Amino acid sequence: MAPVQAQAVPVTSENAIVPEKARDGIDLEINAERYRHTGDPQMPLLWYLRDVLRLTGTKYAGMRGETGADLVLLNGKAVSAVAQPMAKLAGKSVTTVEGLAANDGSLHPVQQAFIDEDAIGCGYCTPGWLIAAVDLLRRKPNPSDDDIDQLPNLCRCGCQTRVRRAIKRVAAGKAGQA
Ligand code: FES
Repeated sequence: MAPVQAQAVPVTSENAIVPEKARDGIDLEINAERYRHTGDPQMPLLWYLRDVLRLTGTKYAGMRGETGADLVLLNGKAVSAVAQPMAKLAGKSVTTVEGLAANDGSLHPVQQAFIDEDAIGCGYCTPGWLIAAVDLLRRKPNPSDDDIDQLPNLCRCGCQTRVRRAIKRVAAGKAGQA
């Protein structure tokens, strides 16, 4: 039998390899992982977190983040995720509520104190409160009632009093204690 000859495949519009330019992107870190966003630079961070990364802890809090449920830490400071277009985040570091616990799964003291004080109702506002509390305690290790009341967060389940106790529990170093 005659050997089979390899035949050149003619290049057509269907099989041609079209060279692509390297895609520009916005490189940032989220919860200690590196990401490159190659979509719309005006996409709000909140959409990127929830719809792209499926980090759904951060909640919608109105178009200006007015109820505080969409707070995240941006380079350590609490900001509204809906108010941050991805274009502004190149080289920045974001921590969401999913990133508060330690790598071994142990809770952040603020998370533990919210459990200790039963400061969680339906839970919708809780991620925002946790982020706000971490930021507040960084700025003011012993916050007053006024400091806590000035946080932008709202709780429609009426947990404010217990939230206040939880934040003060952390300040007193008693998270996780009876
Ligand atoms: Fe339900 Fe705060 S726990 S809104």
